[in-house]
Amino acid sequence: MITIITNTNINTGTEAGERADGRASNELRPLKIEAGVLKRADGSAYLELGGNKILVAVYGPRELHVRRIMQPNRAVLRCRYNMAPFSVDDRKRPGPDRRSVEISKITSEALTPVVFLEKFPRSTIDVFIEILQADGGTRCAGITAASVALADAGVPMKDMIVSCAAGKANEKIVLDLSEWEDKEGEADVPIAMMPRTGEITLLQSDGNLTPEEFEKALDLAVEGCKKISEEQKKAIIARYGD
Ligand code: CDP
Repeated sequence: MITIITNTNINTGTEAGERADGRASNELRPLKIEAGVLKRADGSAYLELGGNKILVAVYGPRELHVRRIMQPNRAVLRCRYNMAPFSVDDRKRPGPDRRSVEISKITSEALTPVVFLEKFPRSTIDVFIEILQADGGTRCAGITAASVALADAGVPMKDMIVSCAAGKANEKIVLDLSEWEDKEGEADVPIAMMPRTGEITLLQSDGNLTPEEFEKALDLAVEGCKKISEEQKKAIIARYGD
């Protein structure tokens, strides 16, 4: 689609009060989730959210041989978030960097509270999140896809974690920031939660918000999570039935 930009919105990419991609403030980008897309992994998922394209593979629970991290009474949940070199505008140097190490850590911490790790002593569950194409909000989209892949692997969980961000762009509190809103906007609040109980397992905040704006962003992110949660369930039902 070709968007004609008038002189008045060249700097911001938006008309006053409207988002650059035409979405309402509480509207998600188009979302697609599919479970069980890889035959060699124990569980897998593919997710598209706007221009994000993310593939997740889960292996395990399986025996853990690394004594340094092995837990005698439970499994460990290891997550690796990785961006493909071709996933962003400037070629991403292959391998881990500060950002991917941080996202891997918060992903593991966001997912761990729902997994019955105590059922699998001395084991590991490995989650590989591959960002094939990045378009803003990849940490949340990666967590959402990882949950579906864990469910697809049959890993016992008390809920399916879902993740979404809200923030402030062009002076407005908006849901599910696009890459442009993420980079040029004023603030970003990614969350992950248990949809059944509303418990929050990830809460980050980048940028400046007043307490009222923060509350509004949080409410909006929770609203977004609830919508995405329905799509996660549909992906599992499409693969396994009710
Ligand atoms: O992806 P997320 O919003 O969770 O994380 P971020 O660190 O706030 O990055 C925002 C966006 O910047 C990503 O989604 C990518 O689209 C982009 N990005 C990039 O272009 N090059 C990188 N090396 C890292 C991120």
